[in-house]
Amino acid sequence: MAKTNIILLLRIIFLSFLSISFAFGPLPLQDFCVADSTSTVRINGLPCKDPETVKADDFFFRGLHLPGNTTNPYGAAVTPMTVAQVPGLNTLGLGIARLDLEPNGFFPPHFHPRATEILTVLEGSLEVGFVTSNPGYKHLSKVLEKGDAYVVPVGLIHYQRNVARGNTVVIAAVNSQNSGIIAVPDAVFGAKPDINSDYLARAFLLDKKIVEELQAKF
Ligand SMILES: *[C@@H]1O[C@H](CO)[C@@H](O)[C@H](O)[C@H]1NC(C)=O
Repeated sequence: MAKTNIILLLRIIFLSFLSISFAFGPLPLQDFCVADSTSTVRINGLPCKDPETVKADDFFFRGLHLPGNTTNPYGAAVTPMTVAQVPGLNTLGLGIARLDLEPNGFFPPHFHPRATEILTVLEGSLEVGFVTSNPGYKHLSKVLEKGDAYVVPVGLIHYQRNVARGNTVVIAAVNSQNSGIIAVPDAVFGAKPDINSDYLARAFLLDKKIVEELQAKF
């Protein structure tokens, strides 16, 4: 009886420890750490510039009202606002992008290794779908109209397509200053040096010739 109580108590202590340790996001240790673009130091993130030299423009981005150029094979464009454009985002775990899609414009299956994404449709209609890992390979998709928002969990493969007659405009918010993007077709068929075409033929149940044609295209 006493032994069971002790075990129970230890469990409660362990669980409280877990919730104390992990129930919040990692917050910065200072107001900001504006990226010093001149530094050659390599760290996880970017080194901070002298806070005395920080200015309003370090936190500023202009141009999200402007459509991106969708003249490309996918008919889609990304205008990113990440730490690369706005050094004040460094260490803050946040970024956004404007997405423009012409009618039938498409972002091919891709994933963001470091961020969950929230898509908000400002104009048009967007079909969005992602595939789960567990339970395996469930495809969840939705058509979003103006004002609708949709969550794409971190690391999951997803795609977007404009299903409106006109252009579609989306704001994508991500919980990383540098979410990263891995386009599945490019990563698989466009890797340099090539992934052995025998391996891809086996993986995709395709003739090796078809795999080599695909590799030549990417
Ligand atoms: C859009 O991109 C295309 C292809 O790169 C280019 O030819 C065209 O000049 C660009 N248009 C504008 C307005 O920048």
